[in-house]
Formats: sequence, C-alpha cells, structure tokens
Amino acid sequence: MSLLLGVNLDHVATLRQARYARTPDSPNAEPCPVVAGHDALAGGADSLTIHVRGDRRHMQDADAFRLREEVGLPINLEMGVTEEMVGLALKLKPDFACLVPESRLEITTEGGLDVLAGFDRIRMVVARLQDAGIKVSLFIDPDTKQVEAAAETCAEMIELHTGCFANAVGDAVDPEIERLAIAARAGHSSALQVNAGHGINYTNIGRVLELPHLAELNIGHSIVSRAMRVGLTTAVREMKELMAKYPSGS
Ligand code: PXP
Repeated sequence: MSLLLGVNLDHVATLRQARYARTPDSPNAEPCPVVAGHDALAGGADSLTIHVRGDRRHMQDADAFRLREEVGLPINLEMGVTEEMVGLALKLKPDFACLVPESRLEITTEGGLDVLAGFDRIRMVVARLQDAGIKVSLFIDPDTKQVEAAAETCAEMIELHTGCFANAVGDAVDPEIERLAIAARAGHSSALQVNAGHGINYTNIGRVLELPHLAELNIGHSIVSRAMRVGLTTAVREMKELMAKYPSGS
C-alpha cells in the first residue's frame, strides 16, 4: 500500500474567514473550501481533513457538509472531545474522525491528546463514533504510554504528532525522529494504523519518510502555502511525488 495523503483545508477557510466571517453567504466569499477540495482531488489527494473547532475560526459546519456531499473524497473530521462535536460528527458521518485536544487560546493544535488522563471519556466517544460507522484516530504525542492507551480505547488509528520534530533544529532533530519511530513501532505492534501529521513540509518530509509503518500523512499549512505560488492541484501533486519515495512495506 502506498503512503496516503490527507490534505488539510483549514487554512483555505482561514483566508475566507479573514474577510467574510460576518457575511458567509456573500457571493464574494472566497476562497471556497469546496473548490479547493476539487483541486486537491485533481492533484491526487486521498482524503480531505477538516477541523471544525468550537470557536468556528476556520471551517464552518456548512463547509463540512458541502465537502462531504460535493467532492467525493473520504472526509477526516478533526474534532475536540466535546458533546457538541460528537453531535456534529454523528450528523456529518465523516469516514474518519481524529480526536484532538482543543484550547481556544492555541493558534493551532499544539499538543497531542492525553489519552491516559482522559481515558474513560475518550473510550466512550470512540465507541459512539464507531457505532455510527466512523473510524477513529487519536492524535497523540510520540510516547509509547499514549500509544498503549490509544490501543486500549479500541480506536483503529493513531496520528503521531510531528510538531516537535518539525520545530526541532540541528542536533535536536534525530532524537525527535527516534521518538516518532519508537511510537510508530509500538502502534504497529498494537495493530493500530499509524498516521502522522503537523508541521510536515516539502523539506522536512524527507526525514518523516524514514519512519516505519506509516499509512497516511495529514498535511495542511505547507500545501496551502505552496498553493499560493503554484496552485493547489500542483502543490498537492508535488507532495504526493515526494511521498511516493516511501518504501512500500515499511
Ligand atoms: N493533524 C492534526 C491533528 C492537526 O491538528 C493539524 C493542524 O490542523 C494537522 C495534522 C496539519 O498540520 P499542518 O497544517 O501543520 O500541516
């Protein structure tokens, strides 16, 4: 199986909200996440990731439903572990849901979910989503204790948080890769699908491809940024070309 790419379109909505948050129905409201979804599909995206946050700072509920109905790619809903978001997921019925921690003050998702601390609640939300036919991923830091707890929730997948790796420079990079590799091996031996995401770009992806057992990468900011120069379809295609170097059977 080749390494799959989930394209996170949140920042397309971020740009639209910067101008049209108060007038979402304006005929001028652009850029449109659905158009971006079609462009990502044309570039070879395997799925679309959207994070509807409690404060609706970028993706709106209507975006999620339109993307689901109009683009034809699997939808991965990133969601906080809240009753409101469970309600949305049960109505939207995305193919996948990725549970993330969410704090209003953060600029983007800043750390992994603490599965150990929130085990009972997370386990219950995983079961409710799975009962609705939604496969569940837990976004966690590369820590074997979190991986083991994730497996105990019966989630199908983990997404390893690559943010610390992406922020590391010089001698700090190798230890972060090692941490991620250990967590990826632990996930694989617990029969979890191992995904990764956060801060992956066209440069650092070379190191990410050293990690074993990866099934999918979720990438947003770097692709949307690159799209400003080359268009979204080409930006996605370029990322897929880099990902094609991932050895199959890793
Ligand atoms: N995965 C998760 C769980 C995230 O929260 C984000 C950021 O929204 C991403 C992947 C994508 O990160 P980036 O935009 O840095 O590529």
